[in-house]
Amino acid sequence: MNKKRILSGVQPTGDLHIGNWLGAIRNWVNLQKEYDTYVCVVDLHAITVPHNPEKLKSDTLSTAALYIACGMDPKECSIFVQSHIPAHTELCWLLNCVTPLNWMERMIQFKEKALKQGDNVSIGLLDYPVLMAADILLYDADLVPVGEDQKQHLELARDIAQQRINSRFSKDKKPILKIPQPLIMKEGAKIMSLLDGSSKMSKSDPNENSRIGLLDNPDTISKKIKKAKTDQHYGLEFGNPKRPESDNLLGIYSMVTNQSKEKIRKECSAMGWGKFKPLLTDALISSLEPIQKKYNALIQDRSELNNVLKEGTENAKILSGITLQRLKEALGFLETTSI
Ligand code: TRP
Repeated sequence: MNKKRILSGVQPTGDLHIGNWLGAIRNWVNLQKEYDTYVCVVDLHAITVPHNPEKLKSDTLSTAALYIACGMDPKECSIFVQSHIPAHTELCWLLNCVTPLNWMERMIQFKEKALKQGDNVSIGLLDYPVLMAADILLYDADLVPVGEDQKQHLELARDIAQQRINSRFSKDKKPILKIPQPLIMKEGAKIMSLLDGSSKMSKSDPNENSRIGLLDNPDTISKKIKKAKTDQHYGLEFGNPKRPESDNLLGIYSMVTNQSKEKIRKECSAMGWGKFKPLLTDALISSLEPIQKKYNALIQDRSELNNVLKEGTENAKILSGITLQRLKEALGFLETTSI
């Protein structure tokens, strides 16, 4: 039986942090054997808000290297850079022309990001979810592993494919685009800021102490955990809505030590913050060490990374080319073969 296909991606904006790892990449790692897996570095999404051209290239490379360093196995999956496959922007245009503007204006993430941009909101930012739909639909993805915050974008991709393409342009009821399902990641789906247990750990938070970077050295990790927000209670617990920091840090501890919440609860319920923080620090340092080692090797000698990306790009080109061709035919474009 053919494996079902999954596709996902992360933006190359600055260094990835443990939220990207525990909330996304580590889940892909667990899925890659069971599914036909495509993961891309979504660099075209990274320019929907003002970006730094000097950093885009190195951030793109380091994101791809971190996928591998975190355990994505090039033998099991295809890794590629979104902008290397022109079909993403081409499909995005085709989908733009059938997507109602008011569907876009109600996207929650657009509204949030637009607010931050003041009067400098690009059309690209509004179009971000259509480009994401193109990413997904090009590969006939069955499932898309994403966090809760991306659910609305996935629904949009489904609506565009079903209501605006398949139901309008399919002949003989044969669908043109595959309708993807979300695979909402529960475990680790939301790692919160170290400085505020009620807001998500984010690359765009101006305060670096809010997150642990995957490439942070032991000293930095130790300092950041020391500064992490705590509360007045003694003993740590999961799931108390009044103690989001306790829940978040215990969750991180449970994930990086690969121990069940039950076990961690027992270990930490009678432990004060002063005793817990050094434990968490050590666990973070030792779980990131192998990732950093692999990452450094990949960046120092680029041949392995280049080969992985080359192969991933080839695979992605083949699949995306087929889908794009199918859609263009259905939309009535003149074939190059007929001239
Ligand atoms: N918008 C996604 C995020 O911020 C990133 C993304 C872009 C993506 N294209 C995708 C995720 C396709 C899954 C599939 O997390």
